[in-house]
Amino acid sequence: MENPFQYGVLVDNEYFTDRINELKEVQQSLNSANHLILISPRRFGKSSLVAKAVKASSRPCVSLNMQNVLSVEDLSSKILREIFRLYPLERIRHLMSHFRIIPTISSNPVTNVIDVSFQPVVNNLVLLEDAMALLEKVSTEGKRLIVVFDEFQEILNIRKGLDKQLRSIMQEQQNLNYILLGSQESMMTEIFEHKKSPFYHFGKLMRLDKIPYDDFRNYISTRLPLEDKEKLDTIVDEILSFTNLHPYYTQQLSAEVWDMLTNDNLIDGVVVASIKKILRTHDLDYERLWLNFNRTDRSIMLSLSKGTNPMQNRQMATSTSYSAIKRLTKSGYIIRVNDYEIEDPFFKEWMIINCL
Ligand SMILES: Nc1ncnc2c1ncn2[C@@H]1O[C@H](COP(=O)(O)OP(=O)(O)O)[C@@H](O)[C@H]1O
Ligand SMILES: [Mg+2]
Repeated sequence: MENPFQYGVLVDNEYFTDRINELKEVQQSLNSANHLILISPRRFGKSSLVAKAVKASSRPCVSLNMQNVLSVEDLSSKILREIFRLYPLERIRHLMSHFRIIPTISSNPVTNVIDVSFQPVVNNLVLLEDAMALLEKVSTEGKRLIVVFDEFQEILNIRKGLDKQLRSIMQEQQNLNYILLGSQESMMTEIFEHKKSPFYHFGKLMRLDKIPYDDFRNYISTRLPLEDKEKLDTIVDEILSFTNLHPYYTQQLSAEVWDMLTNDNLIDGVVVASIKKILRTHDLDYERLWLNFNRTDRSIMLSLSKGTNPMQNRQMATSTSYSAIKRLTKSGYIIRVNDYEIEDPFFKEWMIINCL
């Protein structure tokens, strides 16, 4: 039997739970002329949710992760590559007459991957404008194109001023639905909530939370192979209290618990044993992470692991703690849900075992 839990991939169908209202909200936005901005920490389920809504709409979708974009030229070529993946070149060639720089398009006959490159130009903005214009030209009234830019906050790191340039192109477009995803809360807020930002109030802002307790509880209970209701309840509670309802880590730990129940016949202590097993496989990574933290970061990470408020550390100036928390949040080690917490419950456990 296959493991009924999945992590590290986009989830759908029987691996997807809850998010009923959220799904509706995304769908409503796709059926309107508005754009959507979706924010949550990494691995909360943004991409899975959006993919599900896109699939249900049966509309074409261009999707790009800004984290993998190196330059404006690279962005332009990736947009074109995505368009050519959806629409055969011979069908849209006539829509490309506006191109000021003709791209070189080659396809790898083995992998079928299309490669797009440009001859060197002085002003790459032209490339971006032409590629973005093609997005709108291929979109039709009946099958409006959806454009998803993941990790959108990265545009601030690709080139200075790119936000302004993108915005001025995007605001002219009528026939597209943009969904802009981001996992870096403060940068996303800066882009969309700051009055002076070119993207100020560009679309509807939506925040994705963790999955509610009752829902996750039910999801796990019905998938673990255990007859004893009382033991099952205890195990599920232990899983959820360890992962604190984080979607990815909950699926990861549940998968391991399922494996031990199924293959090792271990029931008592199965959650602890599963946690230990996962910790062992990450031991080296966690040690490396730890060694790369400076003393301030270590102290903040430890107080959050212990469950104490890092701002109340009397040995550290408040401003020092504050900027360290901000830095650690920016790099994703800490997330803020209701309060600040360590993102990875396994790393937290590793710190408790090794560093306290
Ligand atoms: N609706 C959901 N139901 C169950 N698990 C989910 C759900 N959404 C996400 N997950 C879990 O979280 C993981 C990360 O989801 P993903 O969509 O890639 O998040 P993000 O795009 O926010 O980084 C998935 O592989 C899955 O294990
Ligand atoms: Mg994602």
